[in-house]
Amino acid sequence: MTEKTYEAMERYGRDVRAAFHTPGHKMGLGAHERLRRLLTEEGLRQEVNVTDALDDLNSPTGAIKDAEEFAAKLYGADRSLFMVNGTTGAIQTMVLGALKDGDLLIAPRNAHRSVFGAAALAGIDIAYMSPEINEDFQIIEEVRTETVRKAIEEHPTAKAVLIISPTYYGRFSDIEGIAKVVHEHNMLLLVDEAHGPHLPFVPGLPKSAISRGADLVASSTHKILGALTQGSILFVNEDRVDFKKMAQTAAMLTTTSPNQLIVASLEIAMEQMVKYGKEYFTKLLPLIADLQKGLKKAGFEILEGEDLDPFKLTVRISDFGVSGKKADKILIDKYGVAAELSNLHNLLFLITYADNEETLGILKNSLIDFIKDKEKHGVNMDFPKLPKIPPSKILPRKAFFADFKEVPFKESAGQVSAEEITSYPPGIPLIHPGEVITKEIIKYAKEVHSLGIKLVGFGDHTLETVRVIR
Ligand SMILES: Cc1ncc(COP(=O)(O)O)c(C=O)c1O
Repeated sequence: MTEKTYEAMERYGRDVRAAFHTPGHKMGLGAHERLRRLLTEEGLRQEVNVTDALDDLNSPTGAIKDAEEFAAKLYGADRSLFMVNGTTGAIQTMVLGALKDGDLLIAPRNAHRSVFGAAALAGIDIAYMSPEINEDFQIIEEVRTETVRKAIEEHPTAKAVLIISPTYYGRFSDIEGIAKVVHEHNMLLLVDEAHGPHLPFVPGLPKSAISRGADLVASSTHKILGALTQGSILFVNEDRVDFKKMAQTAAMLTTTSPNQLIVASLEIAMEQMVKYGKEYFTKLLPLIADLQKGLKKAGFEILEGEDLDPFKLTVRISDFGVSGKKADKILIDKYGVAAELSNLHNLLFLITYADNEETLGILKNSLIDFIKDKEKHGVNMDFPKLPKIPPSKILPRKAFFADFKEVPFKESAGQVSAEEITSYPPGIPLIHPGEVITKEIIKYAKEVHSLGIKLVGFGDHTLETVRVIR
């Protein structure tokens, strides 16, 4: 018999000793007193959707409006919109609200799938630019200013540029530099800051992109700070963006029954940072430095750099003859330590305000114990080179709604794909729906598949067939 959903939750809550993944409150460890109260019987009495008494997320005039103004001020934005459908909702809102049918958006090839979703909804086209690839860790890094400049020169009619900063692995782009280039060409700068809601509160880190020149910024409060899962915020600067249009777009994409617990948790997360943020982060930064030092002394290679968020810890585990995936499972089963992400070579641990000396100690000791008897050796990072971005034949929207058929993958060159196919690592889509499958892509996919690399998006995991547009 399979488990019930709530039984699975109970099991996970029992088995994990230290979580280094989202949400930011870390399984309640950092939950604000008010958030705890909301999740009790008393809180359940307040879990209602009565817009007259509590204000209306889709057209706020009272408490929610005040809370949004409070958040905007903290991040240095003109306005903000609270979201109950995560950063997916925030990204869809910014793309649909800022661009219109037929417009072109420049975005990194590894943009979150919500960008493609927004393009399909809005009828816009996407011109992709390639972010940096870190060959030593086989991960995707940031988008550089020069890359943006080149993409703009190639696509001068684009309406907006979207970048991810900080990246999943914590690397920052040069926001000021990119904003300057983008605005010189009368385009908008949209920033996916899903992994940066803590930035305004951490001494020494770059501030939020919304205070550094971006026009729109999507922030995953729930991932890194103390909001409930799904609680995100969209920040808006009004110089080049029509806020009313943004608010209307948000309302169009949002349920008419927003969960008030999520809404309130966003305000609580903001209050928590104002009151305790500086104290938490000032205590944590030296502990993180110690953790990094200890891991390096034990022989681990960790991702480093001046332009890296210290709250993201990427550890290369394959040096010890184990894949990141395998290590992930052992760490949970044996030590109760849960990583945010694992891939062929690495484990990524998310540290948040909720962590402390004890949780970081558990992480360090577990990792060191795990490699105790393992010999370190150089890993072969000789990886097949990523194929060129294929030509786009059909707009995302058309591709999404088109009729498709299944054909043998090895004979599909020249056909237009109806599927997105992405290999992990490095996590860059080889093909998006609407793009032409090339011989190079077929060869690459077969090669990485035979190396045991996960290919997602393929309906047929054996790679025998692929869906193409009829
Ligand atoms: C870079 C990036 N953007 C957007 C999202 C979407 O965020 P959410 O899960 O809050 O919808 C994610 C989720 O992992 C992400 O990593």
